[in-house]
Amino acid sequence: MTTPSGLPAAALLPFFTYQDQQLTVEGVPLDRLAREHGTPLFVYSQAAMLNALAAYQRGLAGRPHLICYAMKANSSLAILQTLVRAGCGLDIVSGGELERALAAGVEPAKVIFSGVGKTRAEMRQALTVGIGCFNVESRAELDVLDEVARGMGLRAPVSVRVNPNVDAQTHPYISTGLKGNKFGIAHEDVIDTYIHAAACGGLRVVGIDCHIGSQITQTGPYLDAMDRVLDLVQAIEAKGVSIEHIDFGGGLGIDYQGDTPPEADALWAQLLQRMDARGFGDRKIFIEPGRSLVGNAGVCLTEVLYLKPGEHKNFLIVDAAMNDLPRPAMYQAFHRIVPLRQPHPDVDTTTWDVVGPVCESGDWIGRDRALAVQSGDLLAVMSAGAYCMSMASNYNTRGRAAEVLVDGTQATLIRERETAADQFRTERMLPPT
Ligand code: LLP
Repeated sequence: MTTPSGLPAAALLPFFTYQDQQLTVEGVPLDRLAREHGTPLFVYSQAAMLNALAAYQRGLAGRPHLICYAMKANSSLAILQTLVRAGCGLDIVSGGELERALAAGVEPAKVIFSGVGKTRAEMRQALTVGIGCFNVESRAELDVLDEVARGMGLRAPVSVRVNPNVDAQTHPYISTGLKGNKFGIAHEDVIDTYIHAAACGGLRVVGIDCHIGSQITQTGPYLDAMDRVLDLVQAIEAKGVSIEHIDFGGGLGIDYQGDTPPEADALWAQLLQRMDARGFGDRKIFIEPGRSLVGNAGVCLTEVLYLKPGEHKNFLIVDAAMNDLPRPAMYQAFHRIVPLRQPHPDVDTTTWDVVGPVCESGDWIGRDRALAVQSGDLLAVMSAGAYCMSMASNYNTRGRAAEVLVDGTQATLIRERETAADQFRTERMLPPT
């Protein structure tokens, strides 16, 4: 039997399976959760996250390492708690993320701070709590961090993010390791930057890092980046500056549409072989995976509101929109869309553009999808665990969706649906006239 998406019935994605013609997560019918909590609703599988993490843990077993979950992918507190309790550190990119990270109970020493535009206030905040490392992205930032740390009588632990000029072979908006990108310090300036950093009284050099892009589905770009980074480590250490850890960033892709990225353990088997061959086998490894830990652990449930057949296009209007699921509008991204129940035998399959209620032509979730549905049916937008809720907005004064985390038979509401009052709580009215 095949599902409406053409995939084998039992395994739509690991932990998301059809049972008795109903889509379930860890065996819990999604339909039940949608009725209980309303739609749009994000539902996550804790087992799927821990399973994805286990592949990295297997791959790096026996090596000194720290897996820092890139929390920008999904920063909901219960998701952070899940990964932190399983041993992860966190990769943050703002003071707001630092506050979330601490609220979720991470040890500050396991936090690394990435991003091209850290403010002085954010640097102070991170120094005060004692984070593990600042991943610095420019010479100007290095100097400001030095000044801020000296002002506090501290030495900031730093790693310089290098731009290895490697093509990650992914969407241009999520490719970050090429010369034309705003990220990292150009390869040819790295050694001088390290010599400078080592001489700054407010800095303590601890590592080197790179991140070449996101949704990477091949091993080659990682091997190329690793070679370039190891060349740099050799050259930097030859100048007398030692590098304790090497951070290879995140970026490993997931299956959205039949994509076949390497498994994390297989990828690391190859990368470790390369490190060993080059004599860096004992070096502490940091990684910053985001999408590959949570992306395929989540779905967004949505109800079909209206069928709007037309001469040129048929539109299926659903209650989720670009404010909940911004990836199609932003990157023309593909997410599988499947019914929660197998199609009604009495409804014909039609090709639909699945669109939301937001007043923008860009508000689409899937194009040209063959679905047999009626109004009132429930659909699951798959692979919605990463960069959906964390990028959701209130456009059209739409409240952000609720979230449920499933762990075995237990389903826990981890975020209430946002109300209109929540949205304007921080606004101030003009005085009465
Ligand atoms: N480290 C750094 C420095 C990053 O900039 C990122 C992602 C990561 C780690 C995690 O990368 P991941 O393992 O998740 O690929 N919104 C886009 C993706 C933007 C990625 C930004 N940086 C999307 O929805 O595809």
